[in-house]
This record gives sequence, C-alpha cells and structure tokens, in this order.
Amino acid sequence: MSGPHATLYTGRGAELYHEIVQSDTSELREIIHRLRGKDARVLELAAGSGRITLALLPFVRSITAVDNSAELLRILSEELARPNRKNTASKANVVLADILSLEPGGHFDCVVLGTTSFCLFDADQRRSLLADIRQWLNPGGELLLSLRIPDLGGQNRYVHEISPNLAIEERFDAVRGTFSSTLIERSDDGQAIAEYSVTTHLLTESDLRTELREAGLVLEDAVDVGPRNRVGAIGDYKLFRAHSPGPDAMGKTTDVQR
Ligand SMILES: C[S@@+](CC[C@H](N)C(=O)[O-])C[C@H]1O[C@@H](n2cnc3c(N)ncnc32)[C@H](O)[C@@H]1O
Repeated sequence: MSGPHATLYTGRGAELYHEIVQSDTSELREIIHRLRGKDARVLELAAGSGRITLALLPFVRSITAVDNSAELLRILSEELARPNRKNTASKANVVLADILSLEPGGHFDCVVLGTTSFCLFDADQRRSLLADIRQWLNPGGELLLSLRIPDLGGQNRYVHEISPNLAIEERFDAVRGTFSSTLIERSDDGQAIAEYSVTTHLLTESDLRTELREAGLVLEDAVDVGPRNRVGAIGDYKLFRAHSPGPDAMGKTTDVQR
C-alpha cells in the first residue's frame, strides 16, 4: 500500500463512500467533452467504484480502470455486469493495483486522474507518478487531472451534514500541510458509531502547475468543474488538461513548455 493510510476506501467505509459519491457529477461533463468522438484508449487512475469510469464508457474505445481498493473495484465490476451495461462493459478493464508501481502495458491516448486523488500522494510520489504518466501517454496524449483547493472560510474545521446518519468533517493541519476528511456514521439517535477517514496533502494550483512542468507535461488549460455533489461546495475545483509532447527527429520535445 502506498500513499497515506485511509479507512474511507475499505470495508464499510468503501460502501458508504460509494453511496455518497455515486451521484457526484463533478468533472464528468468536462471530461466527456474532451473525449467525445476521439475513440480514445483511456487509463483511469484511482478509479474507485467507477463514478468517472461508467460515465466515460459510452464515449471511449477502451478504459483501463485502476485502483488498489478491492472493495471499490468489486462495486465497479458488479455495476459493469448489469444487463443495461452489456453494450459497453466489454470496453472496461478493471485492474487491482497500486498506481505508484503500475505497469499498465501499452500506451494510452488519455490518462484520467480525477476527484483530487493526486493529493493522496506526497511530493516525491507525485513526481514519480507524473513521470510514469508521461511515459504511459502516446505523444500528444492528454492527462486530465482534477484538483480541489479546499477553502474552509478561514476556519480549520468544517462539518457537512449529509443526512441524519452521515456527516463529513474536514480539517486543515497547517503545520503538516495536510487536509483530513472524516466520514462520521451515526445511529438513529444521533450517536457517532464509526469514523472512516482519509488524509490528503495540500497542493496549490501554482504547485500543480510547477509539478506538471517539471514532469515535461504541457499545460493547456484549467477549467472550473464543480463541485456538483451532496457534500457541498468549499473551495475551487478545477480540471487541468496537459499533454505529453512528442519527440521530434532530433529526439527533442516538440512543444515549448508554458
Ligand atoms: C478520492 S477517491 C476517487 C475515486 C473515484 N475516482 C471517484 O471519483 O469516486 C481516491 C481513490 O484512490 C484510490 N487509491 C488510493 N491510493 C491508491 C494507490 N496507491 N493506488 C491505486 N489506487 C489508490 C482509493 O482506493 C480511492 O478509490
């Protein structure tokens, strides 16, 4: 297991995570807009229970969905097996693996890394992952990466009430440079009965731009993509589109990095 310890993506945490995110449409319209009509081979990293995977299926040639949560991928596989998916499910390849040591085999027209999952990793891990992504992309291929920059309105703690039985508490740790999200499950009488958490690293838009540039990926644009979910809006949520430059005849890259 790489990345910070998380209980939100395993066991009961994974079931609840799926329940909350399955209606989240953040980023989907913009990613579909980029892929529609391109017959693209897509590699989706940190695919989870397939919130993005399933939405993209009708618009791509194939999609390899990678995650290291067996529970979340089981939910995705069950969804792919439904009769209403029979025309598109064969385009999906579900892979249980750590994306930090992935050998996907082959090259892709597009790599999708959504839902701010990039911030699960520290700076060294992100550097290594971006270098791998550049290798996995065909020349000219695109990386579509989303980043939520949390804003707790000047506070260090914020609680979103999702339903009488579920809430999400978010906290900044300015010293560590981390942001923790804890899903709190409550009994009918309002007592907290379990907590499932994940910690992410704080990453500014400017840091991300620098990391993309240092990986040799050429940033095209960054557009607002939400949030459009049950948790509610705090902070900016953007989709970054970068491409992998192709080598020219001299072995140099053909793009000038912005
Ligand atoms: C924020 S969730 C996003 C899931 C999905 N994209 C969605 O929108 O619902 C982050 C995902 O990253 C996965 N993950 C965390 N570390 C990973 C790693 N090292 N390798 C593969 N997947 C990882 C988790 O299991 C989880 O599914």
